[in-house]
Amino acid sequence: MGLEAFMKQDSNREKVERIFQRGVRVIYEEAFSFLSSDSLLMDKLLAMDKIPSEITSTFLHNLKNNTYVAEKDDLFQNNTKLDGQKYRALKTYLNWDPVTPGNFISHFTYRYRALSQLLWKRPQMKNTISISQISRIKTREELSIIGMVRNIRENKDGRRFLTVEDLSGSITILIPTTIPERGDIVCDEVIGIKGFPGTGGGILFANAIFFPEITPITWPVGERPYAVFISDLHVGSKKFMVELWERFISWLKEHKEVKYVFIAGDVVDGVGMYYKQNEHLDIETVEEQMEVFAKYMKQIRHDVKIFVISGNHDPNRDSEPQPVFPEVFGKPLKKIDNLEVYSNPSWIDVEGINILMYHGTSFDGVIDAIESIRNNAYHRPYLAQIQLLKKRHLSPIFGKNKIFPDKQDFMVINKVPHVFHTGHIHNVSLSSYKGVKLVSSGTFQNITDFQEKLGHEPTPGQFIVMNLSDGNSKIIDFSRIQ
Ligand SMILES: [Fe+2]
Repeated sequence: MGLEAFMKQDSNREKVERIFQRGVRVIYEEAFSFLSSDSLLMDKLLAMDKIPSEITSTFLHNLKNNTYVAEKDDLFQNNTKLDGQKYRALKTYLNWDPVTPGNFISHFTYRYRALSQLLWKRPQMKNTISISQISRIKTREELSIIGMVRNIRENKDGRRFLTVEDLSGSITILIPTTIPERGDIVCDEVIGIKGFPGTGGGILFANAIFFPEITPITWPVGERPYAVFISDLHVGSKKFMVELWERFISWLKEHKEVKYVFIAGDVVDGVGMYYKQNEHLDIETVEEQMEVFAKYMKQIRHDVKIFVISGNHDPNRDSEPQPVFPEVFGKPLKKIDNLEVYSNPSWIDVEGINILMYHGTSFDGVIDAIESIRNNAYHRPYLAQIQLLKKRHLSPIFGKNKIFPDKQDFMVINKVPHVFHTGHIHNVSLSSYKGVKLVSSGTFQNITDFQEKLGHEPTPGQFIVMNLSDGNSKIIDFSRIQ
């Protein structure tokens, strides 16, 4: 049966409509011919739990021959059961496998698919087509595409030209100055674009852009204890402020309502991080720094659960995601019963509250690239946190921050957390965005010469305390507590 005759039959047309209602975006021509010649295959496709967004003939052949393997979204997941514990890692990273060239393709394809699925759900993205289809459109009607930004150029009058690509091809996008978010677009992120195609289909004149964004989240009802969020101790640095740590320990002894401490990385200062770092160190080996950090952890009340992730100064792989500390460095922490080490980043469920811990190394590149936050995010880190939530990615610009190209992209924010905890900036801030509590914890390290040169103003000794029953939080300034 020819395609035209096939679509004339009501039952076939209805099945094709049902396929598109299931989130399918493209059925390629060859695949459509294949599908129209095999009604059993059509039924098999509709019976799938999750239909891929793009239907190719290879996929259909695999489906027909039962050789199709669904892509799992949670290869890295360590979904340990609660088993009497009140916490579990919802998603933590375990991979130490070496990278292969093929990983890059899988990595970016995964990123594109995961983020474009979020965009397709948006009502503005209803009539999205693939880039390769644009040249075939005869009329000059408004259309939408979803693309990964390959590069950004700006001309003298402030208009921006993007090259974006999807799995079918690439196109130039002209972003006029009337689009206020044009300065927020960064390379390698996935965005939705609405606009009119130019003659020949080689350019799209945008009139709106969309980020994957988060949906608002509500706080689950329940009685829970308090949590403290800290980071960036930099043990081993001459600037580590031991008196602040001692005040923190005394405060914890008095505040029995606190049952959890979250530490978002840079637990030690490390060695060889920059030229002549040894001149700024009190402790010159990282093994010894970790031993001393472990000693400080043992000072925390034993009925408090401590969660630790790595930062860029810690002895771990220097590309993100960072797994747990390698055995040789993490050994001293293993002996501490009330301490759990997770990957950077990690999603942790604590008594029904989903906490996303990320050190924040990508902030430097993101703050530099985004015009609207460039001049103020080092004082208000929550502005950078909001950008990552909008982009649904913890490190959108590949290469600005070192990223390990796994077959899946672990840095995609698939799940919206209740709490987003970061460090790295050494500046405390507390805010919320669409119900997500934004926690940027301060530091125990005094201002360094490097930070002074950059004009940064760290807030040593200021940390966040949160009532996990309702999310109410406040900043405590230990530098003022005697
Ligand atoms: Fe730090």
